[in-house]
Amino acid sequence: MTDQRVAIITGAARGIGEATAARLHQDGFRVVVADLDETGARDAVGRISTSQDEALPIQVDVTDESSVRQMFKTTLDQFGRIDALVNNAGVAGQSAPCWELPDGEFERVVAIDLHGVYYGCRAVLPHMLERGSGRIVNVASIAGKEGNPNAVPYSSAKSGVLGLTKAIAKEVATTGILVNAVTPAVIETPILEQVSQEHINYMLSKIPMGRTGQSEEVAALISWLCSDECSFSTGAIFDISGGRATY
Ligand SMILES: NC(=O)c1ccc[n+]([C@@H]2O[C@H](COP(=O)([O-])OP(=O)(O)OC[C@H]3O[C@@H](n4cnc5c(N)ncnc54)[C@H](O)[C@@H]3O)[C@@H](O)[C@H]2O)c1
Repeated sequence: MTDQRVAIITGAARGIGEATAARLHQDGFRVVVADLDETGARDAVGRISTSQDEALPIQVDVTDESSVRQMFKTTLDQFGRIDALVNNAGVAGQSAPCWELPDGEFERVVAIDLHGVYYGCRAVLPHMLERGSGRIVNVASIAGKEGNPNAVPYSSAKSGVLGLTKAIAKEVATTGILVNAVTPAVIETPILEQVSQEHINYMLSKIPMGRTGQSEEVAALISWLCSDECSFSTGAIFDISGGRATY
């Protein structure tokens, strides 16, 4: 085992996940670029590093617990350790009032945005407990704090991520493992293609800074949460919303 730290980032083929993988790689981590989109993950690795020793693409479906467990096994086989897990994979779901959503849409979004985070935490914690250290960062959303209309599945799942983060953080509070969440407002990534312009305008109108955020801004916060400098925060929800959050 080398001294180099290792981070797994889910949903890292693009958007916030890719920016986070690139940032953690700059910080000195070996990174696992995990995504459902296998080609996208490979392409992202090509942009992040030229060496497979430094950045490894892994296909994962976070809704499938056995696939998540396989991702951890492959990482350990390849890199020997896991210091940080960023549960970032997510979808926005369709924008519509809940009674107009197609059957199954709630379950689909919750499976990716909430169950996926639970599977990731469950799979990595025994390894981190054995090592007596670790950082988990869950990417939630301002929608999970405030509730966005026309985004009931998403808001519900992201609220769930906040509760899960606080509960797990307390389970491991004295073990050297810190578990935190971030709650971005609108960040300019391809996820916005899934929602209507009307919905984007609604979200933008709530941001006092009057602009969207950039993936790199979120990555910088996650980078600190994965570092040793973050040492007295756990079960905390970190706002990154251009002033939208009032608590
Ligand atoms: N962009 C925003 O405005 C915003 C705001 C708040 C929170 N977030 C959250 O940030 C995270 C990243 O969002 P983004 O904007 O970068 O989105 P994105 O759509 O650009 O990227 C999401 C990635 O997740 C992957 N993914 C989807 N389903 C998956 C699955 N089942 N298993 C593995 N990977 C899967 C996709 O292939 C994609 O590469 C999400 O959890 C999202 O909810 C985004």
